[in-house]
Amino acid sequence: MNEPIIELKHIKNYLGNSWVHNDLNLSVTRGEILAIVGGSGAGKSTLLRTMLMLQTPTAGTIKVFGQEITPNSTTALHYLHQHSGVLFQHNALFSSFTLLENVAFPLKEHTQLTQQTINQLALLKILAAGLTVEDANKYPAELSGGMQKRAALARAIALDPELLFLDEPTAGLDPQSAAAFDELVLNLQKTLELTIVMVTHDIDTLWQVTNRVAFLGEGRVLAIAPIAELVTINNPLLQAYFTGPRGRAIEKIYSGKKN
Ligand SMILES: Nc1ncnc2c1ncn2[C@@H]1O[C@H](COP(=O)(O)OP(=O)(O)OP(=O)(O)O)[C@@H](O)[C@H]1O
Ligand SMILES: [Mg+2]
Repeated sequence: MNEPIIELKHIKNYLGNSWVHNDLNLSVTRGEILAIVGGSGAGKSTLLRTMLMLQTPTAGTIKVFGQEITPNSTTALHYLHQHSGVLFQHNALFSSFTLLENVAFPLKEHTQLTQQTINQLALLKILAAGLTVEDANKYPAELSGGMQKRAALARAIALDPELLFLDEPTAGLDPQSAAAFDELVLNLQKTLELTIVMVTHDIDTLWQVTNRVAFLGEGRVLAIAPIAELVTINNPLLQAYFTGPRGRAIEKIYSGKKN
């Protein structure tokens, strides 16, 4: 449980005339659910893209599954992409593909399986994500926002990943759907023995789902701890984030409930 599955050292990212990340260090432990929080524009989505080398950092080193990842490390990169799944912030479903075709896509790209097997596996993932056989032939535009999140999740787990990245998975969902999605993520994490790195602004999710939370600010991980500990840290940026009117209300509900 204590073995790092992702190690970021001294990561710097210079984007749009400013340092989004400036000496960022972060280690993700195998089997944990780690959340990344921080204000809008703090560099959370950029950090997920960097971990997957979808974006090359300006400086610093990235190790995933014990191997250093660089734009030229083709074998390590291929292994990384074959063993991870991503739910992007805006779902990134192919609008001209049905749900089944969307979920089948990574299986087609990364395996030599027959079309029939691919369709069967894709259907299993659709059901595992809480959607139905009838949904499989629908196009993304025919799905509600919550169903699109589930569709993106089904695609993210298509290859039975070890590592799952979720960028704001409950954004835009009503509280009940968000809670149901959290439950789904927890169940999948247990049954598939996943390591999950998720970006979220959902304070309920932090308390219900995560093992640790990393707070991003000033281009770095300013603090990383279980949520109950993180909200007590004496730092003005953390306090502004967690003890604003919304954060404080939630903290009251959960205080004493979870360590
Ligand atoms: N490709 C790019 N080119 C220029 N600037 C970029 C690029 N990608 C990200 N940025 C900038 O980097 C900063 C961090 O963006 P990022 O999307 O990572 O933020 P975030 O923490 O995910 O925010 P949000 O909570 O709003 O999703 C922003 O100021 C953004 O404008
Ligand atoms: Mg983002």
